[in-house]
Amino acid sequence: MGRVHVLDHPLIQHKLTLIRDKNTGTKEFRELLEEVAMLMAYEITRDLPLEETVVETPLGPARSRVLSGRKLGVVPILRAGLGMVEGVLKLIPAARVGHIGLYRDPDTLQPVEYYCKLPTDVTERELIVIDPMLATGGSASAAIRFIKEKGARHIKLMCLIAAPEGVQRVQSDHPEVDLYTAAVDERLNDHGYIVPGLGDAGDRLYGTK
Ligand code: URA
Repeated sequence: MGRVHVLDHPLIQHKLTLIRDKNTGTKEFRELLEEVAMLMAYEITRDLPLEETVVETPLGPARSRVLSGRKLGVVPILRAGLGMVEGVLKLIPAARVGHIGLYRDPDTLQPVEYYCKLPTDVTERELIVIDPMLATGGSASAAIRFIKEKGARHIKLMCLIAAPEGVQRVQSDHPEVDLYTAAVDERLNDHGYIVPGLGDAGDRLYGTK
């Protein structure tokens, strides 16, 4: 079963509180979301493997360590996922960025992929899929399924706020995927919004309504 990591670093929690605040405007919301994404990326990458190397300092050789193992990729789910990409890239500038967009078919209510462009070497990369608001988990679960169908084998899911329903859905559909979030909130309301959540992340990020 994939593990659920609630990242309770004080800076992450402080910024999350500001992000949730209904009085936080678009500019500040965008900046805070990027900052929190950077801090979360720091925690999410804790388990990356290292290997020994030797580097020449001005005073001579030093045994030191560098990242080894698989290269990384980041895949935001459109549109709100875009708000966390730059923060992750600040810490992992060499990561490749894929994008996936989904809509819900009005007849079948099933998620349909309308856009998907992934790094060509996706099978070799460790991917961080980004969905800030994990509500029912339907979109995130479908996105992970589509990405797996394209060959991805190592996936972590990064959220900002998750509902218990979304956590359960991802764990049951993708038991090998570890989930990272800053909070697990109480519930979903009748409109599928996370309560208390922060409202519509895409609208708050881009100033649309
Ligand atoms: N998407 C959002 O942006 N907010 C929610 O509360 C749920 C899904």
